[in-house]
Amino acid sequence: MNLVQKKRSERNQTITLSPAERTELKKELITEADISVGFDPSGKIICGDVVRVSEKLPRQSVDLLILDPPYNLDKDFHGVSFKKGSISGYTEYLDSWLPSLIPLLKPGATIYICSDYHSSTSVHLMAEKYFTVRNRITWQREKGRGAKTNWKNSSEDIWFCTLGNGYQFHVDRVKEKRVVIAPYRQDGKPKDWEETPDGNFRLTHPSNFWNDISVPYWSMPENTDHPTQKPEKLFAKMILASSNTGDLVLDPFCGSGTSAVTAKKLGRNYCAYDSSEEYCLLALKRLKMADSDKTIQGYKDGVFWERNSRQLKRSSEDQRAASKLNFFDESENL
Ligand SMILES: C[S@@+](CC[C@H](N)C(=O)[O-])C[C@H]1O[C@@H](n2cnc3c(N)ncnc32)[C@H](O)[C@@H]1O
Repeated sequence: MNLVQKKRSERNQTITLSPAERTELKKELITEADISVGFDPSGKIICGDVVRVSEKLPRQSVDLLILDPPYNLDKDFHGVSFKKGSISGYTEYLDSWLPSLIPLLKPGATIYICSDYHSSTSVHLMAEKYFTVRNRITWQREKGRGAKTNWKNSSEDIWFCTLGNGYQFHVDRVKEKRVVIAPYRQDGKPKDWEETPDGNFRLTHPSNFWNDISVPYWSMPENTDHPTQKPEKLFAKMILASSNTGDLVLDPFCGSGTSAVTAKKLGRNYCAYDSSEEYCLLALKRLKMADSDKTIQGYKDGVFWERNSRQLKRSSEDQRAASKLNFFDESENL
């Protein structure tokens, strides 16, 4: 099978499916009906409904649960529309499927739940009901539709929860590498920062404000036509902080497969499902591409690089350094 994607324009790297690829990938697709007793979820993309699939999966097998359900807004997912409703209506929607996932979690499991401003209240209520809420991360995703009578929506809430009190959190794996603005020295030597041929950098502890990650767009190699695709860099932070190599990462609303692809690139096991066949096929294609490309844009040498390396791109020499570091100018699409 030829997995080389057709480019729409020279710089457009959006991953698409040809009819031939659909036919081939469908042969690998697992459906609800294929799950029977003894089913091993590792490395599987399943096409099916969140509750019906979850009820068939092995109990207490999941180390990390990533939840990115449809938000409380009008959105079309490959022909299936979601409508914006009341906060109480969305809370009921969350409560209609969330309990089906809880038996799948190991006692030390971590759960991240994505939301926007209109979904966040419901998510908080449900997270409090079933888990221990540890934090709310604000992801400043930058891109958003400008509005004439409102502030542009350019941030999301991600609720960080655990099932119990014993949980893993590996802060050293998610440090951020930032350009030093004030290069303070002590005895002539850099204080808490590093002088390198590529510039001056500081490694910082990650906070609950994530402003180093943009949504995928057409010139990024991870981009697909999924309407609400999350960036690999976003899920990489969750996976590195809250799981170990070999752990099982579960995503029951996987869309284009970002969580599974990122888990695979980082040496974790994954199981992901989505009710849309088209998105499951896209996920399978991306997983194949990850066999030969393990890069995660913005994550290199064990650190997360800050967004928009403009400081690094002041000269052509700096630009070359930036491209070696896997940087890209995210500002062009904002
Ligand atoms: C917000 S998107 C997830 C995007 C994904 N994180 C990505 O990076 O592509 C939510 C997904 O939930 C799927 N979905 C909606 N209802 C579902 C259900 N009942 N069971 C499983 N998946 C469902 C939709 O098809 C959609 O792809």
